[in-house]
Amino acid sequence: MCGIIGFTGKLQAADILVNGLEQLEYRGYDSAGIAVNDGTTTRIVKTTGKVSKLREKVAATKGIEGTCGIGHTRWATHGGVTDVNAHPHVAGKVTLIHNGIIENYKELTVALKEKGYTAISETDTEVAAMLIDSLYNGDPFAALREADKILEGAYGFCVMFEDHPGEIYCMRNASPLVASYTEDGAFIASDMVALLKYTKDYFVVPEEHIVVMTKDDITLYTMDEKVEEPKMLHVDWDTTAAQKGGYDYFMQKEIYDQPEALHNTVLPRIHNGHADFSADNISDDIFKGINRVVITACGTAWHSGLIGRHLIESMLRIPVTVELSSEFRYMNPILDENTLVIVVTQSGETADSLAALRLANERGAKTISIVNVKGSSIARESDYVLYTHAGPEIAVASTKAFSVQCAGMYLIALKLAEVNHKMTEEEMADFCKKFEAAIDTVPAVLKMDDYIKTISEKIKDTFSAFYLGRSLDYGIACEGCLKLKEISYVNAEAYSAGELKHGTISLITEGVPVIAVATQENVLPKLMANVEEVKARGAHVIMVTDKDMSNYEGIYDDLIQVPNVDDLFGTFGVTVALQLLAYHVTVFRGYDVDQPRNLAKSVTVE
Ligand code: G6P
Repeated sequence: MCGIIGFTGKLQAADILVNGLEQLEYRGYDSAGIAVNDGTTTRIVKTTGKVSKLREKVAATKGIEGTCGIGHTRWATHGGVTDVNAHPHVAGKVTLIHNGIIENYKELTVALKEKGYTAISETDTEVAAMLIDSLYNGDPFAALREADKILEGAYGFCVMFEDHPGEIYCMRNASPLVASYTEDGAFIASDMVALLKYTKDYFVVPEEHIVVMTKDDITLYTMDEKVEEPKMLHVDWDTTAAQKGGYDYFMQKEIYDQPEALHNTVLPRIHNGHADFSADNISDDIFKGINRVVITACGTAWHSGLIGRHLIESMLRIPVTVELSSEFRYMNPILDENTLVIVVTQSGETADSLAALRLANERGAKTISIVNVKGSSIARESDYVLYTHAGPEIAVASTKAFSVQCAGMYLIALKLAEVNHKMTEEEMADFCKKFEAAIDTVPAVLKMDDYIKTISEKIKDTFSAFYLGRSLDYGIACEGCLKLKEISYVNAEAYSAGELKHGTISLITEGVPVIAVATQENVLPKLMANVEEVKARGAHVIMVTDKDMSNYEGIYDDLIQVPNVDDLFGTFGVTVALQLLAYHVTVFRGYDVDQPRNLAKSVTVE
């Protein structure tokens, strides 16, 4: 949610900033802008639209020279998508970019008006710029520290002060920032992907800290101005991990990354028929004596929770609830030391999931997170973290991150079963064998790409679509449905197959696509009865299944038959098929697959 980048050093800043913003664009693409200082003057270029438009505007603007600058790509919260609302914002001596939301901006606007400040934009960010300027008397650090006491909300700021050329001051409260120093100079960004071209070593700016960047150095300070040694991290992603690598879209590439991502996440953690978390330093103690599990997450990650519930309840007979983090944080949940709270998140920075985790920690629950981004807030604040190894996921619609989140759920379910003596050695060995066999079917599903494309073409012009599934397949259907609707804008709904007749079947008319997911043998006849019901009303039924459908020929119109796996492991193959279906429908409809309208990948505001 908004991408920010700053650089000061030996190189020209404009190119570094625009290139970095391109990498961060998945965080928001309503507008983009940069400010570059040449030692005396700060020049700003900003525009609505994507970073490519900013790139053109920068190229056409004379005098954007200088080795110190800041850049921003916006996901609009306060104030419409206009040039004037685009960042950077200027007030007096302050030029600033911001990721987050200033909650008390209205009160501040009134107070600042009395001091002679009038905003030209409708943004909360400009108010922050005015506040910092009003507190500035030549000491940037003091101004930021005072502003931090007054501001309410979430913020990651990069600030340039007119009379401190070559320097960038950054402050973090909630919204993520990572920083690094290299031979070329000092860098800061919302996310490591923007810095990959320059370095793989970085530190996460802790909350309530200030970073001072000069061309020769970068220093981390506590709010009371004590220097703190940053905790350096290293990513093993190479620069190509964040490139399209010959694919048309990041989403397409990320769908194809899945065999490797699954292997990297699963194989090092399975040894001799056991889930092995020793390299993750996850103590078995966290899994002992658990009488309840709560899984909390947002969006796609929440769907992996539905899969997790099915696994844990069926394997362990422990009650599991799956809560949307945005609800959980306000519902006064009943938690104690025998509750295991699993937070699932690709970014590790989703504001609601972070708040849910903090609540769980406060209430004394045991917490473990399934996270993709190393060193992210949720990873740091959980008792334990199980990192998924998907590499950077750039497309807004999550694909490989979902598959590895589900894989994380299977691993945790196995570990819970072992620690709580719910499975024998033979059962665990059998589980591992079937798990590995299931993830090994993914390449075969990818080979069905052209075939799935032909099916996508048949439904490309539809206004609406329905996804049906029962049991484990309900979670898979929810995720498949989200993929289609978020990128293709088809009005799609996922239903537990038995529920459709309680109202929504009235929306089934001639030719409406119904995608039925079938990996669960025990409910297959029931699911197919529901499929008959929609078929009788004219639906165009697409079966996505690993099961033998010969008994049901004539009921469905199209069949996407993925390799057969054990019922418990049905998740992986059909998920990939559904991702490909959504991808191709979107390409046929001519939409931007990677950057669907109004969305952002990392939602760091409530
Ligand atoms: C946004 C993204 C989704 C993602 C959700 C949760 O809505 O568009 O793809 O599933 O946030 O993000 P997280 O980083 O917590 O998994």
